[in-house]
Amino acid sequence: MKKVMIVFGTRPEAIKMCPVAKELKTRKGIQTVICVTGQHRNMLDSVLESFRVTPDYDLSIMRENQTLFDITQGILSEFRPVLEAEKPDMVLVHGDTSTAFAAALACFYLQIPVGHVEAGLRTYRIDSPYPEEFNRQAVGVIARYHFAPTAAAAEHLIREGKRPDSIFITGNTVIDAMRYTVREDYTHPELEWAGDHPLIFLTAHRRENLGTPMHQMFRAIRRVLTEHPECRAVYPIHMNPQVRRAAEEELRGCANIHLIEPISVIDCHNFEARCHLCLTDSGGIQEECPTFGRPVLVMRDTTERPEGVESGVLRLVGTEEESIYRNFTELLENRAAYEAMAHASNPYGDGNASLRIADILETGRCDPWTGSGGTPGGVSAEMETETE
Ligand code: UD1
Ligand code: UDP
Repeated sequence: MKKVMIVFGTRPEAIKMCPVAKELKTRKGIQTVICVTGQHRNMLDSVLESFRVTPDYDLSIMRENQTLFDITQGILSEFRPVLEAEKPDMVLVHGDTSTAFAAALACFYLQIPVGHVEAGLRTYRIDSPYPEEFNRQAVGVIARYHFAPTAAAAEHLIREGKRPDSIFITGNTVIDAMRYTVREDYTHPELEWAGDHPLIFLTAHRRENLGTPMHQMFRAIRRVLTEHPECRAVYPIHMNPQVRRAAEEELRGCANIHLIEPISVIDCHNFEARCHLCLTDSGGIQEECPTFGRPVLVMRDTTERPEGVESGVLRLVGTEEESIYRNFTELLENRAAYEAMAHASNPYGDGNASLRIADILETGRCDPWTGSGGTPGGVSAEMETETE
């Protein structure tokens, strides 16, 4: 029996790894052990509850106002005894968080093979997003197997010199997650409040946007909402106290925005499916909204998700007040500009990424025990995809 350990710690990792965990649990040849670092607490627990996933280990490392030092140190020291006790044949980490980086580093120190889910996303700007671009590149150096969501992500890994037979194009597991969450008959009091008014869905949390950029983002949004009283905006505020302070200062008292607590992933995906447009600096939301054909204004200077920009559903608008004001206003006032963005496209997967990852692990094509890889001599395109 092969033992695969899955590690995650924040909300987005949990959303994207729960489908993998659930799929692996159905496989007879694999013993699946789930370890959460608890980098996030409430926001992580909410996802575990939505997917009905119970971890075997919880490192509970979250502290109030935690720094990157706290997270990395906490995981290195708490994860080590778990790895030493369980001795997994492979550890799967996800994406670009400090949990992914520190867990991969711990595995490297103990010489345990790492599989990287959502591998190969890049901006090649080490400060944007910060510290995620470093984290994912560092995990890429450590990982023995790379589960790339798209052909473009696989291409980055090839150019960086990873062995082609260690790379598998699987699609993004976030699309799998949406199979569990999106419902026809969904209702919510905030949607009832919005009624037939255009619903604007807003999220923001990126570390490099804290401070002045985030204040500028919120000021632009307030100006547009004040000029467009027909809109109803809903903003579930991230639990980072710095984000909450900025949101309170800039948006409190604006009549047509509701500032609410983080919502469950089920609520979030159903809000996205029903909104008029979305403003966000989130990574995951850039992958989810294209499925529903909801235009997304990405309040960042860079994106590692160019597929959505190319498909026209995402527009990168930076964090300057004037740019956000202009782009947001245009989408509300210019029907043609809105329609040009509002079409469904699904560049991130077909909802079967977890199945593919489980198949690869179960059949030993990505065999951690012999070190042999996927299709010899080439990237293994598990799904139909156009290579660059
Ligand atoms: C982390 C990830 C980021 C990801 C984001 C998803 C890193 C470096 N960053 O950023 O890539 O996009 O998660 O949301 O790994 N907090 C709570 N309760 C919670 C969650 C967070 O109080 O349930 C507080 C923490 O105590 C901390 C702050 O929010 O003070 C920020 O959390 P942290 O995990 O440090 O970074 P994020 O900005 O959430
Ligand atoms: N999300 C959620 N509740 C919220 C806001 C977001 O469940 O109140 C979900 C969202 O659908 C997406 C994920 O959280 O799947 C994105 O997380 P976040 O923006 O915090 O992190 P990122 O994707 O930028 O790393």
